[in-house]
Amino acid sequence: MSQTQIPVAVLNQLKSAVSAGDVIEQAEQVEPFVHDFRHLFSGRTPMVVLPDNTAEVANVVRICAEHRIGIVPHGGNTSYCGGATPDASGSQIVLALKRMHRIRKVQPLDYAITVESGCALADVQAAADAVERLFPLSLGSEGSCQIGGNLSTNAGGTAVLRYGMMRDLVLGLEVVLADGRVLDVLKDLRKDNTGYDLRHLFIGSEGTLGIITAACLKLFPKPAGTATAIVAVRDPAAAVQLLASLRTSSGDAVTTFELIPRLAVDLTTRHISGVSDPLDRPHEWYVLVELTSARPEDALESALEGALAQAIDSGLVLDAALASSLRQREALWRMRESVPEAQRHAGGSIKHDVSLPISAIAEFITRAGGWVASHVPDGQLMAYGHLGDGNLHFNIQQRDGADVKVFLARAPTIQRAIHDLVAELRGSFSAEHGIGQLKIAELERYKDPVALALMRELKRALDPLGILNPGKVLRKESRTS
Ligand code: MLT
Ligand code: ZN
Repeated sequence: MSQTQIPVAVLNQLKSAVSAGDVIEQAEQVEPFVHDFRHLFSGRTPMVVLPDNTAEVANVVRICAEHRIGIVPHGGNTSYCGGATPDASGSQIVLALKRMHRIRKVQPLDYAITVESGCALADVQAAADAVERLFPLSLGSEGSCQIGGNLSTNAGGTAVLRYGMMRDLVLGLEVVLADGRVLDVLKDLRKDNTGYDLRHLFIGSEGTLGIITAACLKLFPKPAGTATAIVAVRDPAAAVQLLASLRTSSGDAVTTFELIPRLAVDLTTRHISGVSDPLDRPHEWYVLVELTSARPEDALESALEGALAQAIDSGLVLDAALASSLRQREALWRMRESVPEAQRHAGGSIKHDVSLPISAIAEFITRAGGWVASHVPDGQLMAYGHLGDGNLHFNIQQRDGADVKVFLARAPTIQRAIHDLVAELRGSFSAEHGIGQLKIAELERYKDPVALALMRELKRALDPLGILNPGKVLRKESRTS
């Protein structure tokens, strides 16, 4: 078999479909596009195509449809599930959106912004900030992840409790369909009840139903006040109670409520420069709490202080410290956001990205944590993350000195036990990281069979040739490339 399964004539056609013939073919330049961020998946491609605008994306898709070539859309490549990595056949092209990074329109009066898919999330935040508005999606990888990836995976992050996930932040979309037609529902309307709301088919479908090229996103008033605290809680059940009482007492000003276990403090202080133990004495469980308000007169710090004092009296909270400067606030955020990096330094990690009803979180941690303690002697529980959304990164970290290969080889058995418990508690095995190619078997095991059948029917209807991100979310069917 030749190195590429796509005929040279077709590759030339693709090259002439994009301005300045902007494609990448040299092996060493293609390299970054054929591995995922976690190095779980590697593939091959003869060509990375870099369109400059929507018409060029449509041209590329038409050529691929004509020759039945698989297209793998590629943003900032920060997926945890291999969603942007081609397969090993060499018969798929990568479509990188990074040249499409224009901010098309900033609309302060509409509280909206229209951007292209290749914009880095941080650039969208900055453009909103420049007109005294907030684009609230916030994630550790915001400097490199792109809006197209955020949309196609329905990204979450650390402000979902207040503002919702990416899906909740979208007013309109522009999407190139599998036959090259451009779906223009790029409206900036808050209300539009004109039949089926097609936007939501494309958000979270990981490029398998269409290629999102632009979006109109919601903006919000920029916060005038912020209060941030690190809080040592008695246990996760106490954290859940604290969340409920803080939401009420603050007038629902809680924007962030992140669970941080002792191990996360240990690993970040050990491996990340500038992170120090946040309180005088070590504790088992912490939460990073942030309140924000657009009203300058809201006395958030005293509200938070008062609520925490009460929680100390009632035994929910063991100790707490409010950030008294921007530097202290940034240090707390650095600790939280560098947990994944610290985990990488500390060796192997078996990851779960689960969500549960918030009221079931404490029971889940007790039961799943107990299972880990008795079945995984070479691993330590690292359950952290977005408690305010019922979303835990229920990771298991290899213990110092454990054999990483032996440890990671048990991942499927461990994941099965954890995900079965999640299913028993009516949770989700993938809260915010998506399916990609990593979790297809999980989807087949846990998704409602009617929902799964409907997903397959939608895929066939919208992408009858199976050329859009083949083998992601759903298994390739025999008709696909
Ligand atoms: C996070 O919240 O830190 C990210 O989703 C990454 C992770 O799961 O480690
Ligand atoms: Zn997360």
